[in-house]
Amino acid sequence: MRIVILPTELEVSRFAADIISDVIKKKSRSVLGLATGSSPLATYEILIEKYRKGELSFKHVSTFNLDEYVGLKHNHSQSYRYFMNEHLFQHIDIDIQNINFPECINNDFKECSANYESLITKQGGIDLQLLGLGNNGHIGFNEPTSSLSSKTRIKTLTKKTIESNSRFFDPSEFQPSLAITMGIGTILQSKKILLIVTGDNKKKAVVDMVEGPISAFCPASALQLHNNTVVVVDEAAAANLQLSEYYVHSESMHLNSTSDRIDPKINAN
Ligand code: F6R
Repeated sequence: MRIVILPTELEVSRFAADIISDVIKKKSRSVLGLATGSSPLATYEILIEKYRKGELSFKHVSTFNLDEYVGLKHNHSQSYRYFMNEHLFQHIDIDIQNINFPECINNDFKECSANYESLITKQGGIDLQLLGLGNNGHIGFNEPTSSLSSKTRIKTLTKKTIESNSRFFDPSEFQPSLAITMGIGTILQSKKILLIVTGDNKKKAVVDMVEGPISAFCPASALQLHNNTVVVVDEAAAANLQLSEYYVHSESMHLNSTSDRIDPKINAN
């Protein structure tokens, strides 16, 4: 794992946006895995800015979102499709045919999940998967004890996740307790993974993910098995990392580059 610790959320977002744009610039037909939530918001804003300045085009990019609630209409203001339209897609030149969500209209969740996996494979796999980190260590909606080799499927959300997301729903409104999510195994098949995490409330999850044992109890710890993962974290979220000095030192050897290491063997993941 490459751990990049930066002072503020803005710097984290700039760094993440640079990594994403590097990937697209190298391969215009990139396949991106995308996340919702508050973590990627500023990153999306910076990407939109890059598009507006003419520095970046999403014309040939395909996207696969990590997850989607079960039971919300497409145009529901809390659906993840709506979120992505609001915060990214409607502001860039992406072809809507190239946007994918793990939705299931016919309620055959097994079939819909298998189709999502096939579609990702048909596109050649995910070049870059963007992730946030749940307070409980979840990635996507892979809650603690999710199988580390899981594929796209329907999942029951934990009470903690439902509570944490309730801030987005009107109290009188239906709030889903089920979601379809890429599995941890799906995420691990991505060629590159970029996880962004900020804020004091995530510091325990960050330690469990980076320095804890690999355990289904902290789904994000499975990223330790991936050989091309970058975790970009602000100082508040990194506060409890035992080896933070080492991560900072190893980054300083890396000349602050957002792209791949000069020599991939140095500080190998
Ligand atoms: C969202 C997702 C979730 C979030 C995580 C962190 O698509 O998959 O795993 O990344 O819950 O959420 P925020 O960023 O809101 O703290």
